[in-house]
Amino acid sequence: MISVTRRSRTCETEFGRLAAAAISRRDFLGGSVALIAGAGALFPLSALGGSDRLWFDGVAANRLDTVTVSAGCSWQVVARWGEPLWSDGAEFDPVTRGDGESQERAFGDNVDGMEIFDAGGRSVLAVNNEYVNAGVFFGGAGRGEAATAADVRKGKAGHGVSIVEIARREGRWSIVKDSPYNRRITADTPMEITGPARGHAWVRTEADPAGVACLGTWNDCGSGRTPWGTYLACEENFNGYFSSSDPNVEISAAFARYGIGVRDWGHGWATADERFDISRHPHEPNRAGYVVEIDPLDPSSTPKKRTALGRFKHENAELVLAGDGRVVVYLGDDERGEFLYRFVSDGRYVEGGENSDLLESGTLFAARFADGGRGEWLELTPESTGMASRAEICIHTRMAASAAGATTMDRPEWVAANPHRAEVYCSLTNNQDRGRKTNRGGDPMPVGGPNPRAANRYGQIVRWRPDGGDPLARGFSWDLFVVAGNPAVHTDADAGSPNVTPDNMFNSPDGLAFDRNGLLWIQTDGDDSDAGGFAGQGNNQMLVGDPETGEIRRFLVGPRGCEVTGLAWSGDRRSLFVGIQHPGAGGRGHFPDGGSSVPRSCVIAVTRDDGLPIG
Ligand code: FEO
Ligand code: CA
Ligand code: CA
Ligand code: CA
Repeated sequence: MISVTRRSRTCETEFGRLAAAAISRRDFLGGSVALIAGAGALFPLSALGGSDRLWFDGVAANRLDTVTVSAGCSWQVVARWGEPLWSDGAEFDPVTRGDGESQERAFGDNVDGMEIFDAGGRSVLAVNNEYVNAGVFFGGAGRGEAATAADVRKGKAGHGVSIVEIARREGRWSIVKDSPYNRRITADTPMEITGPARGHAWVRTEADPAGVACLGTWNDCGSGRTPWGTYLACEENFNGYFSSSDPNVEISAAFARYGIGVRDWGHGWATADERFDISRHPHEPNRAGYVVEIDPLDPSSTPKKRTALGRFKHENAELVLAGDGRVVVYLGDDERGEFLYRFVSDGRYVEGGENSDLLESGTLFAARFADGGRGEWLELTPESTGMASRAEICIHTRMAASAAGATTMDRPEWVAANPHRAEVYCSLTNNQDRGRKTNRGGDPMPVGGPNPRAANRYGQIVRWRPDGGDPLARGFSWDLFVVAGNPAVHTDADAGSPNVTPDNMFNSPDGLAFDRNGLLWIQTDGDDSDAGGFAGQGNNQMLVGDPETGEIRRFLVGPRGCEVTGLAWSGDRRSLFVGIQHPGAGGRGHFPDGGSSVPRSCVIAVTRDDGLPIG
């Protein structure tokens, strides 16, 4: 009966109704419109359902150990963890699963954000290798964690970024071994520190007394790309690699805010590389947690840590150009009760001009959302934050945004900008502490605004439109595009918004990207138990949403145990590359090779059987 009611709704205030449903589905169903947020009129929709822009048939949820795509589409594996990028590299050994030397010359583990670059007609894929799953990655030895120096070397090489030329030959995509573009960037690759924090006392170390050069990137999650052809790798849970040989080391408030403590998350890197030991090198953690800019077509280039974009647990980096050419970058900080950010460059993009350092200087803002569908960007300055300098703001960005009064969010993941109008979307993946605890900095996390549910298990996608269609504007209007839930189990706010049905339901939206047609691709990283409150949702998945109608349809279901994350289109738009991260997690599967094979993170390509573009 509820679904009939939902389907019968008409259009004029649909988005207001989504927000109302998020606040109280029961009140809404009972006809109380008093709770409807004022943003509805700003986000007009046609009626739900019947969008012919969603060109494919929906896929049913499942728990298969394979990828399922919509009928009329096909998929294939493009690149797997452990595949050598050069012909002198060792082929993947399913018993040892390689060593440091082979991994340094092979495709990394746990694929995440990715972008495709055109090199004179050749396709260069840059893809993050967020982390490694120790149990699978080390294999064979019965260890759950890295334990030896050799393991640490291999582990560091499993992280970072893989840059590989790929080609479609006889209809199948694969790595072009020995391509001059192939490159592995790991946790040991030399990098430059740029921007306001460059040279600051807090980033100086014994090995780098000038505070200008550091080693490596790790836990790169989402990605970004610039109009001048560079790749952005975004450092997320960088904290989990630091530990202390002195159990009594002082944990400062800043370390506590970023989750840096005596113990690491099991990677063991400090046991073989003392720069990860905070009792010996207390400034080293201040040199991670940034967006890293990489020239994917110049393997000899030095990656640049862009401190102007702030230091936090970065998810992705979504760039848009303002009318005057300034570069606007939207950035999420994925931790419970952390913030959503906007960077505005000082310089202006000029097509064909010298743009390579536009991310070196600019201003950071953090978002404040008010109830009723309005919000504003709070500029982070020494005046608004009480900090001594822009450098301090760029290193202790979380505390700066707290001081400025930003809104604590339900774990901001990817941000995506609609190519057809000034409208931006962000996944708020979930937040079990909403309405129950503070964030790490002691900021309250009240229920309300774009974070409308206590102990939020399902997540939602917020979207906003800058005033006047100008991404430089201080003010914006916001609404919720979807509130995820389970309408087969719940009848309250946990049923989700009206555009969630038993046929398309999901939890924990994460990866987001718009295609050329203005459709929003949504990837999930959620509870795939298919039980209890998640019954009927199956494995993690990828869906497509239509911003015009609010309709959402499931396009792909991933294999057991995976997260579906990262997506990019080929130059001709006929292949859609998708990341399958940690398939078989928890010993639940053997994707992609089946049987009793080692499960391997991989990039797949999805194509339409009729050969048409796929977005
Ligand atoms: Fe690596 Fe927030 O996901
Ligand atoms: Ca993510
Ligand atoms: Ca996630
Ligand atoms: Ca993940």
